[in-house]
Amino acid sequence: MSTKHCLALGATLFIAVAFGPVHAGDNPKRGAKVYGACAACHSLEPNLHLTGPSLDGLWGKKAASVANFPRYSGALKEQGFIWDEAPLNAWIADPQAFVPGTYMTFRGIDDEKVRGDLIAFLKIAMAPGGAKSAVAQGLINAEMARGQAPEPLATLGPDHQVTGIRHCQSTFFVATADGRQTPFWEMNLRLKIDSSSNGPKGGKPALVPGGMQGDRASIVFSDIEEIGRLVERKC
Ligand code: HEC
Repeated sequence: MSTKHCLALGATLFIAVAFGPVHAGDNPKRGAKVYGACAACHSLEPNLHLTGPSLDGLWGKKAASVANFPRYSGALKEQGFIWDEAPLNAWIADPQAFVPGTYMTFRGIDDEKVRGDLIAFLKIAMAPGGAKSAVAQGLINAEMARGQAPEPLATLGPDHQVTGIRHCQSTFFVATADGRQTPFWEMNLRLKIDSSSNGPKGGKPALVPGGMQGDRASIVFSDIEEIGRLVERKC
């Protein structure tokens, strides 16, 4: 082989090693920091679905195949590819370009090195039981593994336990188990449902303060029928 050919082969090998799907320099620890941007919408705990599905065990599985996640877009459901380095790289670079019409409203990460680090982390975190191993390896803490999953509500004190809600003149009057009644402007109170095991106990909706001023709050119910039972129009 001529020197020229040798050099060319050497250069090709170098490029293949340096710029292949998983780079030698990819660092899951750095990637775990980048993952913070994903934790707003994803948890790594099995079956804990937020805006997006739990990513637990998804490595090597078909796109849009997470059980009990009913919010997939038609666009992602009709794909059929398997999640590993290459599709994740394209997805994280620009989800809308890779799967036009996806519901994942994430702008994308332009820097290839940053994506490489994140994928090195995801390879660990998206394995079955990935949350546990990522925490055990000190890559993330348990809070990050849960993502922005709501706080468990079952154990709130009587001042947060709603016993009745009446609406009158643009105002919700919220009665709590400590005997108090608090008025909220109707636009400052959000009615929500947390039907997961983190949600309030049946029949005991929770008053959760929101905002800095204390004039805003959410009431979290355990199911939709409870709203009808507890909210009345009465002046
Ligand atoms: C603003 C919320 C949001 C953010 C931020 C977000 N995602 Fe998503 N993600 C979603 C939603 C919603 C879906 C479902 C998309 C669909 O059905 O089209 C999804 C889907 C996915 C899927 C495919 C799941 C499956 O079952 O096939 C992967 C993988 C994924 N996201 C990884 C990430 C990673 C990694 C990040 C951070 C770089 C991230 N997401 C950031 C909301 C988000």
